[in-house]
Amino acid sequence: MLVAIDGPAGAGKSTVARALAQRLGYTYLDSGAMYRCVALLSLDAPNDRPAALAQKARIELGERILLDGRDVSEAIRAPEVSEAASRVAADAGVRAALVASQRALIAAGDWVAEGRDIGTVVAPEAELKVFLTASPEQRARRRAAELGADPQTVLAEQALRDERDTTREHSPLAAAPGAVLLDTSGLTVAEAVERIAALARAASSTA
Ligand code: DC
Repeated sequence: MLVAIDGPAGAGKSTVARALAQRLGYTYLDSGAMYRCVALLSLDAPNDRPAALAQKARIELGERILLDGRDVSEAIRAPEVSEAASRVAADAGVRAALVASQRALIAAGDWVAEGRDIGTVVAPEAELKVFLTASPEQRARRRAAELGADPQTVLAEQALRDERDTTREHSPLAAAPGAVLLDTSGLTVAEAVERIAALARAASSTA
């Protein structure tokens, strides 16, 4: 069973997907962390092709994120890495390498996979596809609280990243055909998790 959760930054994807995975007893796949790892490598080696870095990278996802054996769980959340991740994510070669790794991971077992293109590209056959959204202001408020940053600055940077993520040539952010749209603006995390868990139960009983 695979639950695919896509949507823009700040819609609550990570928090909801992680809690949902725990609730269902599935494994959580944070695909954004993989793009962030490639971004970190690219910041350290600006002259190397990001696609070559993505192919070589050994990324281990779990409680901690390990990149070539180094714990980068905190480093990949830095604002400059968010910015660089949005840039490397527009590279077709990076996407091909990471999509292949993601498909290999989810081939066996039960997963909640979260990102931008899980339902559209990585696993269009997912039993349940959810597109999480929230108002831009709400999303910026959440990100600002997480980062301890100014909400107006986050809102402006978010608009730029949204523009790049939704208009890029390769796998732009979009709801997959058949995805359930869920706006988390007025919902608590528990409510969002509960709704998706109910959809997952219904999907697994008809699968
Ligand atoms: O979800 P996040 O903020 O950790 O994602 C980091 C960047 O990677 C963001 O710019 C979107 C991009 N991304 C992507 O293009 N495809 C994915 N499946 C996951 C993330």
